[in-house]
Amino acid sequence: MRQILLNPGPVTLSARVREALLKPDLCHREPEFATLQHSIREGLLAVYGLQAEDWASILLTGSGTAAVEAMISSLVPRSGTLLVAENGVYGERIRQIAERHGIATLAAVSDWQGGIDVASVDAALRTNPDITHVAAVHHETTTGRLNDLAPLAAACQEHGVQMLLDTVSSFGAEFIDFTHWPIAACAATANKCLHGVPGTSFVVARRAALAAHATKRTLYLDLDAYLANQDGGGTPFTQSVQTFYALDAALAEFFDEGGWTARRARYRSRQAAICDKMLSLGVEPLLAPAASSCVLRAYKLPPGCGYQALHDGLKARGFVIYAGQGKLASGIFRISAMGDIGDDDLARLLDALDAELAHQEP
Ligand SMILES: Cc1ncc(COP(=O)(O)O)c(C=O)c1O
Repeated sequence: MRQILLNPGPVTLSARVREALLKPDLCHREPEFATLQHSIREGLLAVYGLQAEDWASILLTGSGTAAVEAMISSLVPRSGTLLVAENGVYGERIRQIAERHGIATLAAVSDWQGGIDVASVDAALRTNPDITHVAAVHHETTTGRLNDLAPLAAACQEHGVQMLLDTVSSFGAEFIDFTHWPIAACAATANKCLHGVPGTSFVVARRAALAAHATKRTLYLDLDAYLANQDGGGTPFTQSVQTFYALDAALAEFFDEGGWTARRARYRSRQAAICDKMLSLGVEPLLAPAASSCVLRAYKLPPGCGYQALHDGLKARGFVIYAGQGKLASGIFRISAMGDIGDDDLARLLDALDAELAHQEP
């Protein structure tokens, strides 16, 4: 039986991506590696049609958090202040990262089930002229909310501050407005909407933003050093070569399948089918569908239904779902639509949900 991962990454791999892992061994100081790295870096910019004169993609070996930490520690100047707009676990994590690096940090915290509180961001920007950057999570995977970043971007624009975005669970499947939002950088990973394997993450940064500050807060996560090396075809440290092969194949597949809008359409239709099934079984979504990303939805555990039993029942039928996190840990479960999921897999999932949840009162 095929095991389908419905957790928010890593995802179920396609045969093409899995086979790429078996390519020949390669030293990261050889020209073939430079070619591979160049292909991935170009591919990542092409996801949103970005020009290489203005933008750079920077590849790291590490999970999504490594990319977020590299972005925050490399881009907030030593004299700068970061305001974090938080509404979930991953916003909280950005604040923790900034604090660990000794960055002057403020937070505009809103309810986890609500959107970003733009009014309090705006008020903070008015009263704290020292703020240089606002950080936010695009898709807050804690609840499945796709944060509406346009009003936040407008507030940042008005106050002349730049945005640092965690797009770990949205890059490749949701709209990111690189033209109108004052984005300095966004951080993401290979193993979510791009369908690569875990091990490679990346930052897409405005070249001018990186050129402006060399913060040198860390040795290993110094984006400036990665950029200089990667622009020259090299790498400051050993990269996870096999995961690079896989990401290159995943990007080729991504473009063959029609790019981010096609991926969003596919995820949306999977989520709609799952949500209809849930509603028919009396299982309520945590958020209104319009507030949710295409990537993941959270559902309230029905009364009397324990997460572990639901997880184990579905796993025995070939599907791995995901628990809630933080203060939502005991009340919800989450289902992602990423990865190589066919129509037949989806049909089996709907049957499995019927079988595991049908005893709930609609
Ligand atoms: C929005 C967001 N940011 C950051 C992360 C952290 O990524 P990782 O576990 O790859 O470090 C995740 C993981 O799910 C995420 O969803």
